[in-house]
Amino acid sequence: MLYCHSQYVRPVAGEDRRWGPISEAGEYAFDRPPLLSSRRIGPDLARVGLKYGDDWHYAHYWDPRLVVPDSIMPSFKWLYTRVRVLLHTTETGAPMMPPELRAYFTMSAETSIPLYPNTDGLAFVAPPANGRWPLDGTPVIDLKGFGDHPPTLTRVTLVFPTHELVGLVRYIQRLGTNRGAWREMLESQTVGAPAMTIPSSPEVLRLGREVYDARCVGCHGKNGDGNGPAATFLSPRPRNLTLGVFKFRTTPSGSLPTDGDLYRTVTRGVRWTAMPTWHELPDDERIAVVAFIKTLSSRWNHERPEPPATIGDPPTATPELVAHGKDLYQKAQCSRCHGEEGKGDGESAPDLTDDLKFPIRPADLTRGRLKGGSTVRDVFRTMTLGLDGSPMPSFADSLSEEERWAISYYVLSLSAWKDPLTGLGAAR
Ligand code: HEC
Ligand code: HEC
Repeated sequence: MLYCHSQYVRPVAGEDRRWGPISEAGEYAFDRPPLLSSRRIGPDLARVGLKYGDDWHYAHYWDPRLVVPDSIMPSFKWLYTRVRVLLHTTETGAPMMPPELRAYFTMSAETSIPLYPNTDGLAFVAPPANGRWPLDGTPVIDLKGFGDHPPTLTRVTLVFPTHELVGLVRYIQRLGTNRGAWREMLESQTVGAPAMTIPSSPEVLRLGREVYDARCVGCHGKNGDGNGPAATFLSPRPRNLTLGVFKFRTTPSGSLPTDGDLYRTVTRGVRWTAMPTWHELPDDERIAVVAFIKTLSSRWNHERPEPPATIGDPPTATPELVAHGKDLYQKAQCSRCHGEEGKGDGESAPDLTDDLKFPIRPADLTRGRLKGGSTVRDVFRTMTLGLDGSPMPSFADSLSEEERWAISYYVLSLSAWKDPLTGLGAAR
């Protein structure tokens, strides 16, 4: 790893734009072991920490080509254990009991743990939060990701990350984070949603398909149904682009997004998930792939996006406004899903599903670095317009504008800076 990835020499022009700031003295003071050498073949790992969700990494070590089709990195399948199981399908799904699975599942009958295999019959099992098997429950193979056309699988291979791999992913996620949240400052993260209209000429669509086939199929699948071979590793799953339902919009709940919305998402990626940022692709390729993904859903044939909502200037933040927001956060029952402290652990959290009935977690608002953008306007937009396809509703009708600004500031205060020595934050 040291030979292929390291941080000190950046020989190629434009590397800063692509990977982030160059290293500075002192940045690695707390890294064990210190990574020293010159840049060789792969990306600078000190700039990969927190770039992707953990799930991206689990797909990537299994086979880098699943998520980066032109990657030359070897696959590291020996960092996983595999258990083959024959499927006895019953009406309710298949309880499976090969004895090896006892090490990974308690087989307690109360909880079923859905596993979503890909068409090759590979089903990844995400590690428990503390990294220690077993998971408490019984695994159940679930084919709902395939909709009306499930593949016929007679056996599946369950794939478990080893303890070493869980540790490796955590280690990589920490690299470069001593420097703070620098990625948020990169231009690509702050890209606005310009009022652009992308013309879809045959040439643009041809380029768009090329980009899609080269970069997006591994996750979003050939037809855009979200069933690429990597999908079994990923939670949240890649978007099913054939439905034309999108979370990150400037348009009202239920509307198609604007071209600018899609351009913004593709450019900045979706933080904490496997959806990468694509800012390193040339502009014309990003524009073309947006035009192309609109051909994957028939919604665009007979609907137009509604006009974007106008979001005014935020009021000035004051301690009173934040306190008011805290009050409203309780009253509007945000805590039911996001938890009293905003950690994403409210009482409804374990049972939430998205519109396709896949499990979904409410955002952990204490991490900052939000999927939809991390400014007060971004939070306000999310609260006002909702995240379509997910349980996060629009509060446009139930809360006044002033109330939404107050809560938005309170949401930001949940991730405000804390003193690393005392753990004390700004007074709330
Ligand atoms: C490594 C897997 C992966 C790759 C590669 C990938 N995506 Fe995604 N994509 C995801 C995941 C996962 C989500 C869902 C994120 C969420 O729901 O929070 C997503 C969501 C999206 C969305 C939906 C955003 C919204 O508003 O709901 C769009 C659009 C999208 N991807 C486009 C693309 C395009 C275009 C490419 C190729 C240039 C691409 N993706 C490549 C994993 C991937
Ligand atoms: C029914 C459950 C539910 C309620 C109630 C709810 N949320 Fe959410 N919220 C979610 C879920 C689930 C997500 C994550 C969607 C995702 O990741 O795709 C989310 C996402 C968000 C995000 C986006 C975070 C990001 O990464 O961009 C913000 C901000 C947010 N919620 C704020 C609020 C506030 C403020 C309230 C109360 C006014 C609220 N939510 C009420 C379920 C809920």
